[in-house]
Amino acid sequence: MRIEYFENYNVMSKRAAEIVAGEVNTKNNMVLGLPTGSTPLGMYANLIEMNKKGEVDFSKITTFNLDEYYPFKRDDKNSYYKFMFDNFFGKININKEKINIPDGEAADGDIEAIKYEKKIEVCGGLDLMVLGLGANGHIGFNEPDKILTADTHVAELTKNTIEQNSRFFNSVDEVPKQAITMGIGSIMRAEKILIIITGEAKKAAFKQILEGKVTTENPATLLNLHRDVILLTDLR
Ligand code: F6R
Repeated sequence: MRIEYFENYNVMSKRAAEIVAGEVNTKNNMVLGLPTGSTPLGMYANLIEMNKKGEVDFSKITTFNLDEYYPFKRDDKNSYYKFMFDNFFGKININKEKINIPDGEAADGDIEAIKYEKKIEVCGGLDLMVLGLGANGHIGFNEPDKILTADTHVAELTKNTIEQNSRFFNSVDEVPKQAITMGIGSIMRAEKILIIITGEAKKAAFKQILEGKVTTENPATLLNLHRDVILLTDLR
């Protein structure tokens, strides 16, 4: 794992954008895995600017988002679908046909998950997967547990994650209890992984990754088993 430390969030976000743009510029039809959340907002803002200046061309890439609440309406203000169009896809020259986000409106979540995993495979797998980190070590909605699931699946959100995400809803009761998420295997099969970590709340989970041990009780520690991970952080 290659770790890069930054003095603040803005410098880190610029670097994250440069890494993503560098990969896209090397392989313009690449398959890119993307997260939602507050962490990648700075990276997306930088990529939008770079795209406007003609420094990166997204017209041929294919994207797969990590996750989506389930069951959930795409036009809900909290859907990850809406988040991605508001904060990134709606502002870059991407081919909308090549955007993939798990369908929160699918009649059967399990079938949607299987189809999603298959589609990643058919597209040749992910060239680069960008991740944020949950305070409890989750990546995607792969929450700490004794057993983790390899492929895309319907996951139960933990109490901790429901509470964290309740800041976007009117009350904690409104937070969905499930999500469709890429599994640990879907993530680990990516050629390259970029994880961005910011905020004191993430410190304990981050330190555990650095220890180089692996435990399903902190799913992000599994990244220690991947041969090409870049970790960017403004934590010390
Ligand atoms: C987002 C996702 C989550 C977030 C994590 C960190 O698609 O899958 O795992 O990356 O919860 O969220 P923020 O960046 O909001 O702290």
